[in-house]
Amino acid sequence: MENAKKGELVIVGTGISVAGQMTLATKSHIENADIVFMGIMNKVGEHAVRKLNANSISLDDLYEEGKSRALTYKQMTDRIVQAVIDGQKVCAAFYGHAGVFVTPSHDAINQVRELGYSATMLPGVSAEDCLIADLGIDPSKFGCQSYEATQFLFRDYRIDPHMTQIIWQIGLVGEASLSVLDATHNRPGLALLTEILLEHYPDDHELIIYEAPTLPISEPVIQKVTLSNLINAETTLVSTLVIPSLGLPAYRQDRLSKLGLTEQQVVSFRNPTSITEGN
Ligand SMILES: C[S@@+](CC[C@H](N)C(=O)[O-])C[C@H]1O[C@@H](n2cnc3c(N)ncnc32)[C@H](O)[C@@H]1O
Repeated sequence: MENAKKGELVIVGTGISVAGQMTLATKSHIENADIVFMGIMNKVGEHAVRKLNANSISLDDLYEEGKSRALTYKQMTDRIVQAVIDGQKVCAAFYGHAGVFVTPSHDAINQVRELGYSATMLPGVSAEDCLIADLGIDPSKFGCQSYEATQFLFRDYRIDPHMTQIIWQIGLVGEASLSVLDATHNRPGLALLTEILLEHYPDDHELIIYEAPTLPISEPVIQKVTLSNLINAETTLVSTLVIPSLGLPAYRQDRLSKLGLTEQQVVSFRNPTSITEGN
């Protein structure tokens, strides 16, 4: 029979604040899908998606205290992939950018493509995008390292304190079992993170614990805390830790000279007023 409908998958991000940060393309894919799966973690956001498409189903029922999130993510992926195999035009909507710190979105895309169906991901507004706007941090100024808190603790990473550090999932830092659903288990992880950071920063270095608003009427939460006091900071499941740069590193004279440049030339190229004044 040639009348079987071929399934397809589009993964979209609804933004952090659903009202206002959802792109027009995302909206259109939600409206035109046969079924929408929602990993939005927020009732207002779910309501906004359901208004666009009544056949929208939350994936949040798969979360359970004491159950590994690795299993939850696999089950989310299975649901999404099965609907595509069943021949539906599937949209899966996750909050923020659907490809940023979201396992089932990438897994579903890979599986669906391996099965020979079409699968695409659209960009969305992530927590990092909101942070850049609310804190006035341009990643180009000092460079930026952006990573997951527990992965950083567990593995042999290197940090460069001259770069801005954006550390995700601080509310779960050090929580190895992946089975808790609140931010009350992170004190040992925060203590270890502090110990590592003290190798690079003075104890009075000011850090920021940031929460972007999830409603357009709310303000961002910007909590400033010294490194020595990080252990006592209030964190939630949506907190992101920002460590401001210690400042730009020195110029590498050896590299400049390989390009036939001097530090003075580079500085003057980057400072147009000094060029004008020099003329
Ligand atoms: C599973 S990740 C999801 C990220 C999301 N897909 C995005 O694009 O931002 C959860 C982590 O994202 C960050 N996050 C989520 N919501 C946030 C918010 N409202 N403000 C700041 N950071 C947030 C936190 O670091 C949190 O632990």
